[in-house]
Amino acid sequence: MNKTMRFKMLLLIGLISFVGCKNSNKTNKTETISVSENTIDIDLQKQINDCINQLEIAVPKLTDLTKHPRLIDTDSTEWKQVNNHKLIWTSGFYPGVLWYAYNVTGNKRWKDEAIKRTEVFEDFKNITEHHDIGFMMFPAYGLGYQIGDKKEYKDILLTSAASLASRFNPKVGTIRSWSNKMHPRWQQHITIIDNMLNLELLFWAAKNGGDKKFYDIAVKHSETTMKNHFRDDLTSWHVLEYDSINGNILNRHTKQGYADDSRWSRGQAWGVYGYIMVYKETKDKKFLDFAKKITDKYLDLLPEDMVPAWDFDVQNDPKEEKDASAAAIVASALLDLSTLVEDKADQDRYYNAAVKMLKSLGSENYSAVGKADSFLLHSTGAKSLGHEIDVALIYADYYYIEALSRLKKLKAKK
Ligand code: GLY
Repeated sequence: MNKTMRFKMLLLIGLISFVGCKNSNKTNKTETISVSENTIDIDLQKQINDCINQLEIAVPKLTDLTKHPRLIDTDSTEWKQVNNHKLIWTSGFYPGVLWYAYNVTGNKRWKDEAIKRTEVFEDFKNITEHHDIGFMMFPAYGLGYQIGDKKEYKDILLTSAASLASRFNPKVGTIRSWSNKMHPRWQQHITIIDNMLNLELLFWAAKNGGDKKFYDIAVKHSETTMKNHFRDDLTSWHVLEYDSINGNILNRHTKQGYADDSRWSRGQAWGVYGYIMVYKETKDKKFLDFAKKITDKYLDLLPEDMVPAWDFDVQNDPKEEKDASAAAIVASALLDLSTLVEDKADQDRYYNAAVKMLKSLGSENYSAVGKADSFLLHSTGAKSLGHEIDVALIYADYYYIEALSRLKKLKAKK
């Protein structure tokens, strides 16, 4: 190679590295995650052991079977317990945590404890006052059926699905989430984004001997919500008020977000989890496309530590509290998504984002180890209502241990 050719070659190499450099500077957060694919890992067994050690501390203190642990206040170290009541949506998460503890350890002690805490609210199967029956029954009886092999829970779950389905209004095309008596500000047919999670009970029931209409209702609800509940920028409103006679949209509000038009973080998380689950159940590509789009939007909005502020529209203010529950919900969902997408780059991107979230949640910044009886700290339930601000929440722990259990399965497969 003569001097001129060598010079041209060097020039070309220089140009290629310059362009490469420029592009890598421009990569957005999700691409960065993909690039660092091989560097992202966590000490999964340690994070699981941390959870189990926390349960060893908490469980002996939680002896009242009429109550369940709901939150740990900022200045406290022990769970505040609330009644297992048909209007309290969080009743199922503590038994769910125990089912997952059994799942990740195989230790029958957790199964026995889970059974004890599950079988105290069988009568909730008849709840028709609100949509939360899915949140309440599936983590308890659904996981008992799946993880604990408690086949006798089947009828309870089928009855629960029928109760939930009774709230479907075909003129609107969605399940009515709340009743006016509970939330008098809204007078008509209310559907909230959180409702997506309750659909899992309907899909399960349709597959397990229940009425096939449960499947149709879940699909119709997903289609209507996809059409009406999301802004052009792919973020969602919290509350939609429909006319119950003609299905017209009357209003779009928030209850737990910063403002009617803001992007409440856990609402986005419910949407992400919901549509990934709906695709898993239906295998309808339109739901996968949508799940990917809203997931990518969520990832784009995240701060460096992968845990959002309680509302994305207050996130620039460092004084605003975090919501670790949103991160736990999304981490769990992304592990599923990583197995559902076909493209290898997408698989890695979603897997790595989930692992990064779990690593952050298990770190000194969010772990409750040595500080309180929960798995995680720094969640926010409803700042707009003035409560559950920067606390531990039982559903943050539930989705966190669900994610760890999913990761354990994925790693075993790999
Ligand atoms: N109702 C569910 C939530 O507060 O996110």
